[in-house]
Amino acid sequence: MIIAVDGPTASGKGTIAKALAAHFGLPHLDTGLLYRAVGYQCGESGGNPDDPADALAACGFPDSLLDNRELRSEATGGFASRVSTHPEVRKALYERQRAFATQPGGAVLDGRDIGTVIAPEAEVKLFVTASVQERARRRWLEMQDREIELPLSAIERNIIERDARDINRKDAPLRAARDALVIDTTSMGRDQAIAAAIEAVDTAL
Ligand code: C5P
Repeated sequence: MIIAVDGPTASGKGTIAKALAAHFGLPHLDTGLLYRAVGYQCGESGGNPDDPADALAACGFPDSLLDNRELRSEATGGFASRVSTHPEVRKALYERQRAFATQPGGAVLDGRDIGTVIAPEAEVKLFVTASVQERARRRWLEMQDREIELPLSAIERNIIERDARDINRKDAPLRAARDALVIDTTSMGRDQAIAAAIEAVDTAL
């Protein structure tokens, strides 16, 4: 069984994907982390994330980079959304995601294009979303926890900018698959969102 969980940043898709993986005993891949690793590596090596050749060169990042806390930063998120616009980068990361999705026994993957490009045959497709204001508030709280001070307005601006880049790119834009079930978590707490997702999977099976 493949469960595809797509949606914009801070929508709750990562939390939901992790919880579904634990509940159904499946391995989980956060595909955003791969794009973040490319973005980070590109920046660290002095490359330009808007240049396809520089971004492609960063696709050979070492696996150990995936554990680096820096990948979670807002700055890296911005770099990730820029490198991810290049078809060359998406192609370079395709096989790894595809192999994970098709492993025997199934898997849960979260990202932007799992239900549309990586695993269009997924048995369950969820599209998790929430209002920009609510997503900005969650990101702000998350940063407060990590003792990072950034005004809410700046976080909201970042989110709007990244959404626009993800939605408007030509290759694998962020959108719900035609057969995806949309879960709007704007007025849901964590447990409620997870329960809604588990129920959606149970219903789909
Ligand atoms: O989900 P996360 O915020 O970690 O993703 C970082 C960036 O990576 C996104 O803004 C998006 O541009 C890109 N991404 C993507 N396709 C995916 C996962 C992430 O283009 N499947």
